[in-house]
Amino acid sequence: MATNRTFTMIKPDAVEKGHIGGILNMITEGGFKIVSLKLTQLTVADAQKFYAVHSARPFFGELVEFMTRGPIVAAILEKDNAVEDFRKLIGATNPAEAAEGTIRKKYATSIGENAVHGSDSDENAAIEGAFHFAGRDMF
Ligand code: CMP
Repeated sequence: MATNRTFTMIKPDAVEKGHIGGILNMITEGGFKIVSLKLTQLTVADAQKFYAVHSARPFFGELVEFMTRGPIVAAILEKDNAVEDFRKLIGATNPAEAAEGTIRKKYATSIGENAVHGSDSDENAAIEGAFHFAGRDMF
């Protein structure tokens, strides 16, 4: 995958509250092109694999339970400097520290239920995108 792409999930908390449209609007208004998009639900095995890097953290069980409790929206996004610019658009992991105008400031409620995911590197963006989408579903 090209390095001008990142991967995002709209998490179960934001989907439950009806924020899919609002968040996708902030993403496209932020200059990102949607390359892949789907509504799906992670199994426990999916979430354990996706978040394997956090498996030793005390919040891992809570994270897996949260991420599997309902549907998510998975998407691949394209823009120059996508990974860094998207992390700016979503704001800090803890919404209490998220800047005004960010997605988490507007839609997240806690450090665990923080509305959206954004890849932290080009390498992880490619891995995470490929976790959810086949090549034929990347446009
Ligand atoms: P994200 O950055 O998308 O991926 C890792 C997730 O772990 C993070 O979002 C939060 O949802 C979650 N997380 C990080 N720190 C904590 C914490 N202290 N307590 C609960 N969940 C956390």
